[in-house]
Amino acid sequence: MSGEKVNIAVFVSGGGTNLQALLDKQKSGVIRSGEIKLVISSSKDAYALKRAEKAGVPGVVVSKKECGSQAEFEKRILAYLKEYNIELIVLAGFMCILSESFTSKYPKRIVNVHPSLIPSFCGKGYYGLKVHEAALAYGVKVTGATVHFVNEVPDGGEIIMQKAVEVSDGDTPETLQKRVMVNAEWIILPQAVEKVSAELLKNK
Ligand code: GAR
Repeated sequence: MSGEKVNIAVFVSGGGTNLQALLDKQKSGVIRSGEIKLVISSSKDAYALKRAEKAGVPGVVVSKKECGSQAEFEKRILAYLKEYNIELIVLAGFMCILSESFTSKYPKRIVNVHPSLIPSFCGKGYYGLKVHEAALAYGVKVTGATVHFVNEVPDGGEIIMQKAVEVSDGDTPETLQKRVMVNAEWIILPQAVEKVSAELLKNK
């Protein structure tokens, strides 16, 4: 590892509000052991790219569709990670699955934020609004967010942080998603990124 901070890449696919939380918390000093050096988007239309640009962080697009295969998709991502000397990957609303061949190259160096209390409403098919639709359909009274390490099992890696959020009467998937973001995701993702970065720095 080189330098005084851990080099971080954030992977995004859409709006990028979690990326924004990370950028803001880096600015305010909550994240001080790592630095966001690169944003990789799976979609050229992701608003997250504008957030990166505004913050002066390089943003690149790697589209799975244009790559033609999972192997080529991951090969291009790996080339960027090497180019920017990335040491920690943060999946912040990244809607693509990474293969075991990829995740095994970064053991305990990939973290993901998931909008439920794992092991509820997680795994294949549970992403974005679908998670909150499932929570409301089940009728849970408490949900929340989880930050975990990424391994070969979708949403199955070791949990780093969780935060509970109450479901309100009359919630829609959209209102619940917003409450989980504001009260859980945007708080615990930056905290977990700092925790993992500090740990990586210590073991340098
Ligand atoms: C967030 O709620 C994030 O937890 C979720 O997608 C949203 C992305 O929003 N991720 C997943 O469901 C991954 N399984 P954002 O682009 O505004 O950060």
